[in-house]
Amino acid sequence: MSLTERAEHTFGGGWTEIKLNAVSDYLNFYTRALQARPSPANPFETWYIDAFAGTGDRTVERHAGSLFTPGPGVMERVRLEGSARRAIAIDPPFRHLAFIEKDPNRFAALESLKTEFPNRDIHCVQGDANDELRNIFTSGPWVQSGRSGLQRAVVFLDPYGMSVRWDTLRQLANTQRADVWYLFPLHAALRQLSHNHTALDAGKRGALNEVFGTADWEEHFYNFNVPQTNLFDFTAAATPARSADPDKVERFAAGRLKTIFKFVSEPIPILTRHKLRQFSLFLLSGNPQPKAISLITKGVTAQIKKYGRQSLPLHRVR
Ligand SMILES: C[S@@+](CC[C@H](N)C(=O)[O-])C[C@H]1O[C@@H](n2cnc3c(N)ncnc32)[C@H](O)[C@@H]1O
Repeated sequence: MSLTERAEHTFGGGWTEIKLNAVSDYLNFYTRALQARPSPANPFETWYIDAFAGTGDRTVERHAGSLFTPGPGVMERVRLEGSARRAIAIDPPFRHLAFIEKDPNRFAALESLKTEFPNRDIHCVQGDANDELRNIFTSGPWVQSGRSGLQRAVVFLDPYGMSVRWDTLRQLANTQRADVWYLFPLHAALRQLSHNHTALDAGKRGALNEVFGTADWEEHFYNFNVPQTNLFDFTAAATPARSADPDKVERFAAGRLKTIFKFVSEPIPILTRHKLRQFSLFLLSGNPQPKAISLITKGVTAQIKKYGRQSLPLHRVR
Protein backbone atom coordinates (compact mmCIF):
# COMPACT_ATOMS: atom_id res chain seq x y z
CA MET A 1 0.00 0.00 0.00
CA SER A 2 1.45 3.37 -1.01
CA LEU A 3 1.82 6.26 1.41
CA THR A 4 -1.01 8.22 -0.16
CA GLU A 5 -3.35 5.20 -0.21
CA ARG A 6 -2.64 4.60 3.45
CA ALA A 7 -3.40 8.24 4.29
CA GLU A 8 -6.51 8.57 2.14
CA HIS A 9 -8.73 11.10 3.93
CA THR A 10 -12.48 10.84 3.44
CA PHE A 11 -14.48 13.60 5.10
CA GLY A 12 -17.27 16.10 4.61
CA GLY A 13 -19.70 16.50 1.72
CA GLY A 14 -20.84 19.27 -0.64
CA TRP A 15 -20.77 21.61 2.35
CA THR A 16 -17.01 21.00 2.66
CA GLU A 17 -16.53 22.57 -0.76
CA ILE A 18 -18.40 25.69 0.40
CA LYS A 19 -16.11 25.96 3.40
CA LEU A 20 -12.96 25.45 1.33
CA ASN A 21 -14.15 27.78 -1.45
CA ALA A 22 -14.86 30.58 1.03
CA VAL A 23 -11.41 30.24 2.59
CA SER A 24 -9.59 29.89 -0.78
CA ASP A 25 -11.39 32.93 -2.22
CA TYR A 26 -10.21 34.93 0.77
CA LEU A 27 -6.63 33.63 0.44
CA ASN A 28 -6.59 34.80 -3.19
CA PHE A 29 -7.81 38.20 -2.13
CA TYR A 30 -5.33 38.34 0.75
CA THR A 31 -2.07 37.65 -1.09
CA ARG A 32 -3.10 39.98 -3.89
CA ALA A 33 -4.00 42.75 -1.45
CA LEU A 34 -0.77 42.40 0.55
CA GLN A 35 1.75 41.86 -2.26
CA ALA A 36 2.77 45.53 -2.45
CA ARG A 37 1.98 46.53 1.15
CA PRO A 38 3.15 48.27 3.21
CA SER A 39 5.50 49.14 0.31
CA PRO A 40 6.37 47.41 -2.98
CA ALA A 41 10.05 47.33 -2.03
CA ASN A 42 9.46 45.86 1.41
CA PRO A 43 6.19 43.94 1.40
CA PHE A 44 4.61 41.91 4.19
CA GLU A 45 5.95 38.40 4.71
CA THR A 46 2.87 36.23 4.28
CA TRP A 47 2.20 32.95 6.07
CA TYR A 48 -0.59 30.43 5.64
CA ILE A 49 -0.97 28.26 8.73
CA ASP A 50 -3.31 25.28 8.51
CA ALA A 51 -3.71 23.96 12.06
CA PHE A 52 -5.88 20.90 11.23
CA ALA A 53 -4.34 20.23 7.84
CA GLY A 54 -5.37 16.64 7.01
CA THR A 55 -3.40 15.14 4.09
CA GLY A 56 -3.65 17.88 1.48
CA ASP A 57 -6.35 15.93 -0.36
CA ARG A 58 -9.81 14.67 0.36
CA THR A 59 -11.44 11.62 -1.12
CA VAL A 60 -15.17 11.70 -1.82
CA GLU A 61 -17.52 9.00 -3.02
CA ARG A 62 -19.98 10.05 -5.66
CA HIS A 63 -22.27 8.52 -8.25
CA ALA A 64 -20.46 7.63 -11.45
CA GLY A 65 -22.41 8.82 -14.43
CA SER A 66 -20.34 9.36 -17.54
CA LEU A 67 -20.94 7.89 -20.99
CA PHE A 68 -18.43 5.17 -20.32
CA THR A 69 -19.58 4.01 -16.90
CA PRO A 70 -22.79 2.33 -15.86
CA GLY A 71 -25.57 4.57 -14.57
CA PRO A 72 -26.85 5.42 -11.12
CA GLY A 73 -25.99 3.13 -8.26
CA VAL A 74 -22.34 2.85 -9.22
CA MET A 75 -20.10 4.84 -6.92
CA GLU A 76 -16.66 6.16 -7.73
CA ARG A 77 -13.97 7.52 -5.46
CA VAL A 78 -12.64 10.90 -6.47
CA ARG A 79 -9.71 12.76 -5.05
CA LEU A 80 -10.21 16.52 -4.58
CA GLU A 81 -7.86 19.16 -3.26
CA GLY A 82 -7.97 19.73 0.48
CA SER A 83 -7.08 22.98 2.23
CA ALA A 84 -3.29 22.49 2.14
CA ARG A 85 -3.11 21.91 -1.62
CA ARG A 86 -5.50 24.77 -2.26
CA ALA A 87 -3.26 27.09 -0.23
CA ILE A 88 -0.16 25.98 -2.13
CA ALA A 89 -1.93 26.87 -5.40
CA ILE A 90 -2.78 30.46 -4.35
CA ASP A 91 -1.28 33.03 -6.71
CA PRO A 92 0.48 35.31 -5.82
CA PRO A 93 1.82 32.65 -3.48
CA PHE A 94 2.15 32.72 0.28
CA ARG A 95 5.81 33.09 1.15
CA HIS A 96 5.62 30.45 3.90
CA LEU A 97 3.18 27.62 4.57
CA ALA A 98 2.88 25.67 7.83
CA PHE A 99 0.76 22.52 8.08
CA ILE A 100 -0.05 21.06 11.50
CA GLU A 101 -1.53 17.57 11.81
CA LYS A 102 -1.83 15.17 14.73
CA ASP A 103 -2.41 11.91 12.88
CA PRO A 104 0.91 10.24 11.87
CA ASN A 105 -0.29 8.85 8.50
CA ARG A 106 -1.87 12.13 7.46
CA PHE A 107 1.23 13.96 8.63
CA ALA A 108 3.39 11.68 6.41
CA ALA A 109 1.20 12.57 3.41
CA LEU A 110 1.68 16.28 4.20
CA GLU A 111 5.44 15.80 4.38
CA SER A 112 5.39 14.45 0.82
CA LEU A 113 4.11 17.87 -0.33
CA LYS A 114 7.58 19.24 0.45
CA THR A 115 9.07 16.87 -2.15
CA GLU A 116 6.30 17.59 -4.62
CA PHE A 117 6.80 21.36 -4.27
CA PRO A 118 10.57 21.71 -3.63
CA ASN A 119 10.58 25.44 -4.39
CA ARG A 120 8.03 26.31 -1.75
CA ASP A 121 8.78 27.05 1.90
CA ILE A 122 6.58 24.37 3.49
CA HIS A 123 6.85 23.49 7.19
CA CYS A 124 5.02 20.36 8.40
CA VAL A 125 4.54 19.90 12.13
CA GLN A 126 3.18 16.80 13.78
CA GLY A 127 1.29 17.50 16.98
CA ASP A 128 -1.70 19.10 18.63
CA ALA A 129 -2.93 22.24 16.85
CA ASN A 130 -3.25 24.27 20.06
CA ASP A 131 0.28 23.44 21.27
CA GLU A 132 1.91 23.88 17.88
CA LEU A 133 0.22 27.23 17.18
CA ARG A 134 1.57 28.42 20.50
CA ASN A 135 5.07 27.24 19.50
CA ILE A 136 4.88 28.95 16.11
CA PHE A 137 3.71 32.32 17.43
CA THR A 138 6.15 32.40 20.34
CA SER A 139 9.30 31.63 18.36
CA GLY A 140 11.29 32.36 15.19
CA PRO A 141 10.35 35.31 13.01
CA TRP A 142 7.21 36.01 15.04
CA VAL A 143 9.26 37.18 18.02
CA GLN A 144 12.58 38.16 16.45
CA SER A 145 13.28 41.82 15.94
CA GLY A 146 14.01 43.25 12.50
CA ARG A 147 11.57 42.02 9.86
CA SER A 148 9.25 40.53 12.46
CA GLY A 149 6.93 43.53 12.16
CA LEU A 150 6.22 42.46 8.60
CA GLN A 151 4.98 38.95 9.39
CA ARG A 152 1.31 38.45 8.51
CA ALA A 153 -0.69 35.21 8.63
CA VAL A 154 -3.94 33.62 7.69
CA VAL A 155 -4.67 30.77 10.11
CA PHE A 156 -7.26 28.12 9.25
CA LEU A 157 -8.86 26.29 12.19
CA ASP A 158 -10.77 23.40 10.64
CA PRO A 159 -11.40 20.87 13.43
CA TYR A 160 -13.86 17.97 13.35
CA GLY A 161 -15.33 19.09 16.66
CA MET A 162 -14.61 21.08 19.82
CA SER A 163 -10.80 20.89 19.67
CA VAL A 164 -9.85 24.58 19.63
CA ARG A 165 -9.01 25.87 23.10
CA TRP A 166 -10.07 29.36 24.13
CA ASP A 167 -6.47 30.19 25.04
CA THR A 168 -5.46 29.45 21.46
CA LEU A 169 -8.02 31.91 20.12
CA ARG A 170 -6.89 34.52 22.63
CA GLN A 171 -3.27 34.04 21.61
CA LEU A 172 -4.13 34.38 17.91
CA ALA A 173 -6.05 37.57 18.65
CA ASN A 174 -3.13 38.95 20.65
CA THR A 175 -0.67 38.52 17.77
CA GLN A 176 -2.70 41.30 16.03
CA ARG A 177 -1.19 39.99 12.81
CA ALA A 178 -3.29 36.92 12.04
CA ASP A 179 -6.59 36.66 10.19
CA VAL A 180 -8.24 33.52 11.51
CA TRP A 181 -10.84 31.40 9.73
CA TYR A 182 -12.53 29.48 12.53
CA LEU A 183 -14.98 26.68 11.84
CA PHE A 184 -16.99 27.01 15.03
CA PRO A 185 -18.50 23.59 15.94
CA LEU A 186 -22.11 24.75 16.34
CA HIS A 187 -23.79 21.36 16.27
CA ALA A 188 -21.24 19.76 18.61
CA ALA A 189 -21.73 22.57 21.15
CA LEU A 190 -25.50 22.25 20.90
CA ARG A 191 -25.24 18.50 21.54
CA GLN A 192 -23.25 19.11 24.72
CA LEU A 193 -26.03 21.41 25.96
CA SER A 194 -28.24 18.53 26.99
CA HIS A 195 -32.02 19.02 27.19
CA ASN A 196 -31.91 17.43 30.59
CA HIS A 197 -29.95 19.76 32.86
CA THR A 198 -29.00 16.93 35.22
CA ALA A 199 -27.17 15.24 32.31
CA LEU A 200 -24.67 18.11 32.19
CA ASP A 201 -21.70 16.27 33.67
CA ALA A 202 -18.15 17.50 34.29
CA GLY A 203 -17.04 16.39 30.81
CA LYS A 204 -19.75 18.41 29.02
CA ARG A 205 -19.19 21.43 31.28
CA GLY A 206 -15.44 21.32 30.69
CA ALA A 207 -15.86 21.09 26.89
CA LEU A 208 -18.35 23.98 26.83
CA ASN A 209 -16.20 26.15 29.12
CA GLU A 210 -13.29 25.58 26.75
CA VAL A 211 -15.18 26.34 23.52
CA PHE A 212 -16.86 29.50 24.92
CA GLY A 213 -14.01 30.60 27.19
CA THR A 214 -16.42 31.13 30.08
CA ALA A 215 -18.83 29.24 32.33
CA ASP A 216 -21.57 31.86 31.73
CA TRP A 217 -23.16 29.72 29.00
CA GLU A 218 -25.04 27.82 31.69
CA GLU A 219 -27.19 30.73 32.85
CA HIS A 220 -27.54 31.85 29.24
CA PHE A 221 -28.90 28.56 27.93
CA TYR A 222 -30.85 27.29 30.97
CA ASN A 223 -33.72 28.96 32.73
CA PHE A 224 -33.24 28.51 36.46
CA ASN A 225 -36.50 30.31 37.34
CA VAL A 226 -38.74 27.42 36.39
CA PRO A 227 -41.88 27.43 38.57
CA GLN A 228 -42.18 24.51 40.96
CA THR A 229 -44.53 21.86 39.54
CA ASN A 230 -45.29 20.04 42.79
CA LEU A 231 -47.04 22.53 45.08
CA PHE A 232 -46.97 20.18 48.07
CA ASP A 233 -43.36 19.05 47.98
CA PHE A 234 -41.12 22.00 48.78
CA THR A 235 -38.00 19.82 48.64
CA ALA A 236 -38.54 18.97 44.94
CA ALA A 237 -36.30 21.34 42.96
CA ALA A 238 -37.59 22.27 39.50
CA THR A 239 -35.29 21.23 36.65
CA PRO A 240 -33.86 24.21 34.72
CA ALA A 241 -35.25 24.30 31.18
CA ARG A 242 -32.92 24.55 28.18
CA SER A 243 -33.43 27.48 25.86
CA ALA A 244 -30.63 26.82 23.37
CA ASP A 245 -31.15 26.71 19.62
CA PRO A 246 -28.66 27.14 16.74
CA ASP A 247 -29.27 30.90 16.41
CA LYS A 248 -28.84 31.49 20.11
CA VAL A 249 -25.67 29.40 20.38
CA GLU A 250 -24.20 31.08 17.30
CA ARG A 251 -24.99 34.56 18.67
CA PHE A 252 -23.46 33.66 22.04
CA ALA A 253 -20.32 32.32 20.32
CA ALA A 254 -20.04 35.49 18.20
CA GLY A 255 -20.43 37.63 21.32
CA ARG A 256 -17.69 35.68 23.10
CA LEU A 257 -15.34 35.98 20.12
CA LYS A 258 -15.93 39.75 20.12
CA THR A 259 -14.51 39.92 23.64
CA ILE A 260 -11.06 38.99 22.29
CA PHE A 261 -11.01 39.84 18.57
CA LYS A 262 -11.30 43.34 17.08
CA PHE A 263 -13.02 41.95 14.00
CA VAL A 264 -15.61 39.14 13.95
CA SER A 265 -17.37 38.50 10.64
CA GLU A 266 -20.94 37.49 10.20
CA PRO A 267 -20.82 33.68 10.26
CA ILE A 268 -21.19 31.60 7.11
CA PRO A 269 -23.50 28.68 7.94
CA ILE A 270 -22.07 25.31 6.94
CA LEU A 271 -24.90 22.85 6.40
CA THR A 272 -24.82 19.09 5.92
CA ARG A 273 -26.66 17.31 3.10
CA HIS A 274 -29.67 17.01 5.44
CA LYS A 275 -29.65 20.79 6.02
CA LEU A 276 -28.35 20.39 9.52
CA ARG A 277 -26.35 23.44 10.57
CA GLN A 278 -23.11 21.72 11.52
CA PHE A 279 -20.66 24.62 11.76
CA SER A 280 -20.51 28.41 11.63
CA LEU A 281 -17.53 29.71 9.71
CA PHE A 282 -16.16 32.99 11.14
CA LEU A 283 -13.35 35.23 9.98
CA LEU A 284 -11.62 36.82 12.98
CA SER A 285 -8.82 39.29 13.44
CA GLY A 286 -7.13 40.95 16.40
CA ASN A 287 -5.58 43.64 14.21
CA PRO A 288 -6.55 47.03 15.70
CA GLN A 289 -5.56 49.11 12.64
CA PRO A 290 -8.59 50.67 10.89
CA LYS A 291 -6.85 50.20 7.52
CA ALA A 292 -6.41 46.48 8.16
CA ILE A 293 -10.00 46.08 9.38
CA SER A 294 -11.36 47.79 6.30
CA LEU A 295 -9.28 45.49 4.06
CA ILE A 296 -10.47 42.39 5.94
CA THR A 297 -14.08 43.60 5.71
CA LYS A 298 -13.70 44.12 1.98
CA GLY A 299 -12.19 40.65 1.57
CA VAL A 300 -14.81 38.79 3.55
CA THR A 301 -17.87 40.64 2.31
CA ALA A 302 -17.76 38.85 -1.04
CA GLN A 303 -17.66 35.45 0.70
CA ILE A 304 -20.57 36.33 3.01
CA LYS A 305 -22.60 37.46 0.02
CA LYS A 306 -21.78 34.32 -1.95
CA TYR A 307 -22.00 31.67 0.77
CA GLY A 308 -23.78 33.42 3.65
CA ARG A 309 -27.22 33.60 5.23
CA GLN A 310 -29.37 33.36 2.12
CA SER A 311 -28.50 29.66 1.90
CA LEU A 312 -29.92 29.03 5.36
CA PRO A 313 -33.24 27.18 5.48
CA LEU A 314 -35.83 27.86 8.16
CA HIS A 315 -35.15 24.37 9.50
CA ARG A 316 -34.06 24.33 13.14
CA VAL A 317 -31.66 21.86 14.74
CA ARG A 318 -32.52 20.61 18.19
C1 LIG B 1 -11.69 18.31 9.01
S1 LIG B 1 -10.13 17.57 8.93
C2 LIG B 1 -9.19 18.83 8.15
C3 LIG B 1 -9.32 18.85 6.70
C4 LIG B 1 -8.40 19.80 5.97
N1 LIG B 1 -8.54 21.17 6.46
C5 LIG B 1 -8.66 19.77 4.48
O1 LIG B 1 -9.44 20.57 3.97
O2 LIG B 1 -8.09 18.91 3.82
C6 LIG B 1 -9.49 17.69 10.57
C7 LIG B 1 -8.06 17.18 10.69
O3 LIG B 1 -7.57 17.54 11.97
C8 LIG B 1 -6.79 16.49 12.50
N2 LIG B 1 -6.81 16.69 13.96
C9 LIG B 1 -7.76 16.31 14.85
N3 LIG B 1 -7.46 16.78 16.07
C10 LIG B 1 -6.30 17.47 15.96
C11 LIG B 1 -5.50 18.23 16.85
N4 LIG B 1 -5.83 18.35 18.15
N5 LIG B 1 -4.40 18.83 16.39
C12 LIG B 1 -4.04 18.72 15.07
N6 LIG B 1 -4.75 18.02 14.17
C13 LIG B 1 -5.87 17.41 14.60
C14 LIG B 1 -7.47 15.23 12.00
O4 LIG B 1 -6.56 14.14 11.97
C15 LIG B 1 -7.92 15.67 10.61
O5 LIG B 1 -6.94 15.36 9.65
